[in-house]
Amino acid sequence: MPYTIEQVKALVREFPDFPSEGILFRDIFPIFRHPEAVECLVSHFVDYIKALGKPVDVVVGLDARGFLFGPLIAIKLGVPFAPVRKRGKLPGQVVSATYMKEYGPDVFEMQSDAIESGKNVVIVDDLLATGGSCKAAEELVAQMNGNVILDAFVISLAGLEGDKKLKAPVYALMEC
Ligand code: PRP
Ligand code: HPA
Repeated sequence: MPYTIEQVKALVREFPDFPSEGILFRDIFPIFRHPEAVECLVSHFVDYIKALGKPVDVVVGLDARGFLFGPLIAIKLGVPFAPVRKRGKLPGQVVSATYMKEYGPDVFEMQSDAIESGKNVVIVDDLLATGGSCKAAEELVAQMNGNVILDAFVISLAGLEGDKKLKAPVYALMEC
């Protein structure tokens, strides 16, 4: 049975005190228990991206949950997918950017030939919190002279103002 986007949103679950006390964790994995819900989510993003009216050359997904639907969006757009990975996971020459996580700095990397100069990029991830991760991803794309035309998320956490850290326009399916 086809899903509506409101039904997809309703599949996101909240887990109090995960991974540590005081954190309310939003879990998108229930969406992936329903193929039609995934289809609806991916089509929703693709329609939004197409409506921007700009050519898209590459979809970039963030480690790890951006890998779940980033490639599906890229396939529907008919463009390549490129991963942003945590340090030390990608072979060959890489570009790096440091960002702050709860317990200190972390490093994101991309293969340095993943994006050609001047290409338009959409970055996707499950969730925008402080914006540190996506800001680092924007920096990686900039190091390869790509243009980020959109940062797209399933969820944006209200009150953290993660979007203010980001250079590109932000779209989130739902704000919590
Ligand atoms: C989560 C989430 C985003 C990021 C958002 O991933 O999937 O990638 O945090 O936080 P920020 O906006 O404050 O940077 P996490 O770093 O926990 O890694 P994981 O995907 O390996 O669980
Ligand atoms: N879900 C997934 N990743 C996250 C969250 C969350 O609620 N908060 C910070 N990173």
